[in-house]
Amino acid sequence: MKALKLALLGSLVAMPGAAFADELNLICSADVVICEKLVNEFEASHSDIDVNMIRLSSGEAYAKVRAEARNPQTDLWWGGTGDPHLQAGQDGLSAQYKSPMLDQLQDWAKGQAEVSDYHTVGVYSGALGWGYNKEIFEKKGIEPPKCWADLLDPALKGEIQIADPNSSGTAYTALATLVQLMGEDEAFDFLKKMHANVSQYTKSGSAPVKAAARGETGLGIVFQHDAVSQAVAGFPVGVVAPCEGTGYEIGSMSLIEGAQNPEAAKTFYDWVLTAEVQSLMPEAGSFQIPSNANATPPKEAPDLSTIKLIDYDFAEYGNADRRKALLARWDEEVGSLPIQ
Ligand code: F6P
Repeated sequence: MKALKLALLGSLVAMPGAAFADELNLICSADVVICEKLVNEFEASHSDIDVNMIRLSSGEAYAKVRAEARNPQTDLWWGGTGDPHLQAGQDGLSAQYKSPMLDQLQDWAKGQAEVSDYHTVGVYSGALGWGYNKEIFEKKGIEPPKCWADLLDPALKGEIQIADPNSSGTAYTALATLVQLMGEDEAFDFLKKMHANVSQYTKSGSAPVKAAARGETGLGIVFQHDAVSQAVAGFPVGVVAPCEGTGYEIGSMSLIEGAQNPEAAKTFYDWVLTAEVQSLMPEAGSFQIPSNANATPPKEAPDLSTIKLIDYDFAEYGNADRRKALLARWDEEVGSLPIQ
């Protein structure tokens, strides 16, 4: 694909008045398989645009965009949880854009655009929960936890993995969810107690359930669709929606302020919001609910209408100061504790 484009570019250079091929520098914050699929599909249908993609977790992506503020190297940031996208909007790191595709989107995706004054938009959604290795639980003779409270059971010592909320949007969603469910002090108290059962805080949000699928840990706190991916791939993974209720993400997309390739970025932005493209996600093992109302939701996707969802306050938990303060408190009170 690249070689063909370079040959084409070479012939264009030789033709007076011909346009150069465009570039698109993309950060992708979802699973690398869907990131690569989107890039391949886009390049196949837009032969004049070369995409340079890197995969970064949501918090890492935000940090990169922030570090590049004076000299943006990124044009577009697709995927990852909505909170750091909202923070980027407030920090002036993302540009305002009203895609002609907005009318086709679900209300929750349009709501994400409205709450950010059109600095970001919803691309998919999914609820938080966990995935567990059925064989490990059977072998140990313990019941898989059904509720957040069950995660404190001493029988789970060393069996839980969750990501670090600084790098991972999944783990930040978990932190913000617990604060909304329990109150802030109680949530930190819960996290400090759960720490006794945690063997690792990973960088990427879905890594804990990939580890559970392979028998490296009993359970990973992740988005339920990431646990479904492992089950669909044939691993002995059970999926849990916590009984007390749970939070969810509005996976988002933002155009970077001062992008060097704004037209290519808008072309990808509008394309990736189409029903046709969003309906491709299950082919890459991605089972989120698509934001285009005409896209076909994957039949394996957890049914949000049957899950007890909290009324997640995206404006408050995507607020730059609130997010910064919660992460600082997590570092001080949880991240600093030794792993036992
Ligand atoms: O692609 C899987 C996924 O769970 C997305 O639904 C989500 O937006 C993203 O990963 C979050 O990744 P991380 O927690 O690494 O930021």
